[in-house]
Amino acid sequence: MGGREATMVLLDENGIRCDGRKVDEPRRIMIRAGGLKNADGSAYIEFGDNKILVGVFGPRDVHPKHMANTDTGILRVRYHMEPFSVGERKNPAPSRREIEISKVIKEALEPAVMLDKFPRTAVDVFIEVLQADGGTRCAALTAASVALADAGIPMRDMVAAIAAGKVADTVILDVNNEEDQAGQADMPMGYMPNIGKITLLQLDGVLTPEEYKKCIEVGIDGCKKVYELQKQALNDKYFGNRD
Ligand code: CDP
Repeated sequence: MGGREATMVLLDENGIRCDGRKVDEPRRIMIRAGGLKNADGSAYIEFGDNKILVGVFGPRDVHPKHMANTDTGILRVRYHMEPFSVGERKNPAPSRREIEISKVIKEALEPAVMLDKFPRTAVDVFIEVLQADGGTRCAALTAASVALADAGIPMRDMVAAIAAGKVADTVILDVNNEEDQAGQADMPMGYMPNIGKITLLQLDGVLTPEEYKKCIEVGIDGCKKVYELQKQALNDKYFGNRD
C-alpha cells in the first residue's frame, strides 16, 4: 500500500479514478443465482473483472464425525483461487491468504445463517475464484450469501459486501486492484442491511477518525446497492423466466 502512488494517477483533477469511475461509483456487478445442478445452491458473480463461482452443500452429515456439534449446525467455507485467476500463476496449494479469507468469510456469514435449526449437520460453502481483480473477498461473500439462499438454508438476512478505501487523500467506494496496490487504504466490509449489522470489517492502511467514519458510511451505502442486486438475482431465478 502507498508505494507506487507517485507514478500512477489514481484520481485526476476532475475526480475521476484510474478506471474511469467516480469516487462513489461501484464497478459493474452481475449476480446470477443457481447454475450448478449438482450443488444444493449456487451463485455466480462478476464484480468488475472478478469472476467467482460458489457452490453450497447441506445441511448434511458431518465428516469427520467428531466435528459435529450436538447443539448447532456448523458452517465450513473454502475460498480457493484458480492458478489461472491472477497474472502470475498461483500455486494451487492452499496459501495462508486463502486460509485467512476462508475464515473471515465464514465468520461474516455465521450471523446470517440459522445454524441452530440444524444441530449435528454441516453447511459447506465452496468458493472458486476464476478471475481476480481486487476485492475478491467481498465479491465472494456477496455470492456466497446468494448461494446459501438458493440452497434454501434459513437465514436472518443476506450479507452484502463491498470495500471502501482511500486514494489521493479521498474516500472511495469499491477499491480495484490498482487502487488496492497503490492507494492509501482498503476497507472491505460485509453488512446485513435488514438487520443493520456489520459482519466483516478489515482495514489495510491508515485513516483519520473522520475518514474512518466516512468509509463506514460509504461502505454501508455500497452494501445496500449490492443487496438490491442479490435480491434481484434470486427474484430472477425464482419469479422470473429463468431455469
Ligand atoms: O481479493 P481481495 O482484495 O479480497 O484480497 P487481497 O489479498 O487484498 O488481494 C488483492 C488482489 O491481489 C486480488 O484480488 C488479486 O487480484 C491480487 N492477487 C494476485 O494477483 N495474486 C495472488 N496470489 C493473490 C492476490
